[in-house]
Amino acid sequence: MDLSGDVGHPDRLVPSLTMSDLDLDVVVLGGGGHVGLPLSLAFAAAGLRVGVYDTNRATLDRIGRGEMPFREGGAEDLLRDLLPTGRLQLSADVSIIGRADVLVIVIGTPVDEFLGPSMTLFEKTVEQVAPHLRDGALVVLRSTVYPGTTSYVAQAFADRGRRVDVAFCPERIAEGHALEEFRTLPQIVGADDPTVGDRAAALFARLGGEILRTSSKEAELAKLFTNTWRYMKFAIANQFLMVADQAGVDYTNVLDAIRRDYPRAADLPGPGFAAGPCLFKDTMQLAAFTSDHFPMGQSAMQVNEGMPAYIVSTLERRHGSLRGRTVGILGMAFKAESDDTRASLSFKLRKLLAWAGARVLCTDPYVQDDRLVPLETVLSEADTFIVGAPHRAYRALDLDNREVVDVWGALGGIRL
Ligand SMILES: NC(=O)c1ccc[n+]([C@@H]2O[C@H](COP(=O)([O-])OP(=O)(O)OC[C@H]3O[C@@H](n4cnc5c(N)ncnc54)[C@H](O)[C@@H]3O)[C@@H](O)[C@H]2O)c1
Repeated sequence: MDLSGDVGHPDRLVPSLTMSDLDLDVVVLGGGGHVGLPLSLAFAAAGLRVGVYDTNRATLDRIGRGEMPFREGGAEDLLRDLLPTGRLQLSADVSIIGRADVLVIVIGTPVDEFLGPSMTLFEKTVEQVAPHLRDGALVVLRSTVYPGTTSYVAQAFADRGRRVDVAFCPERIAEGHALEEFRTLPQIVGADDPTVGDRAAALFARLGGEILRTSSKEAELAKLFTNTWRYMKFAIANQFLMVADQAGVDYTNVLDAIRRDYPRAADLPGPGFAAGPCLFKDTMQLAAFTSDHFPMGQSAMQVNEGMPAYIVSTLERRHGSLRGRTVGILGMAFKAESDDTRASLSFKLRKLLAWAGARVLCTDPYVQDDRLVPLETVLSEADTFIVGAPHRAYRALDLDNREVVDVWGALGGIRL
């Protein structure tokens, strides 16, 4: 496939397949994941023939049946429209990589037990894909990575005698909103060679958004800085809540006074559980990059991760002890209208409450987990309610005469 050309006019970038025996335009490694699957759908919707390569066969089976393995706005309908077209080929066999000359890699990039990046992750992936890549292929890293990973991966391929182009094009969608954001968000294309940048830009121009060109390390830092900035904003929001609470002041009123019709403070978020699979670990990746001297990022982590303990100690002070109390957690996902529980602080809260002696009942309309109970059970048995994820379904609950902790303000006002 020749994806090079005038990136400003994606309609003119119809793949020229007549000169090639390839039956796919792009393969997405990790194509069954929270980023890889929406991206695969978006490429296929843009007319590309996409190989969805993933080692998780159970996920591929679900996708093949037209079922999304997780909640993502509009994705299930699109998947069902696309499957009959044949433009999505699902495979757990690594050899599918040889059927295209573009590979997008979008695997999870967690931090290790020392809060640093996993250095072996990409080595293993290079090992896995190198024998199957076509000569001259374009490899795009789409995961959020430790700065320098793109050059490291390019070198690892070269060391194995593989001649491939490597670019870094970070994913910036918010889970649940991927399909709409692919159309509107600019795509950052980080490459250290203009020709490689042209190839990657041509691929992402198919999504329709503006293309921003940078070097690979600029793109790596742009992505980490973005997530760290968001994490720090949530941390100051949470810290302000704690300061106001300790001063005996209603933070709902303070926040309204700060933000209402005052544009310079409009970007102060409301408090809440700042968690999930990205912000914490990306802030820690950045901290590791600074030789572990990143006090602002590390403080943000302490504040955000400390919120469940703050809630539990507030309740303990109020009641003396939590032994004998039943506490209900409303929402176990890491954010509203999501079924993603990865790194959700609701689970940390559950553990701390149980440790403090409370009986804990957890519920969530979206999360499948045998440990959860129906909302009705929580409503009839709990003495105290804590909003863990501000799902819309909870807004209409009438809990006026009950003890409620709602740091999100989801039920009409911030309550601690
Ligand atoms: N989740 C988000 O909203 C989001 C947004 C922007 C960026 N990111 C970044 O994108 C990356 C991926 O995150 P995610 O949430 O999609 O992770 P995920 O765990 O949902 O998806 C990863 C997928 O890769 C598959 N996989 C893992 N190793 C593989 C291998 N060696 N070969 C083939 N398949 C393999 C897994 O089975 C899984 O389906 C991370 O770096 C993350 O920080 C995530």
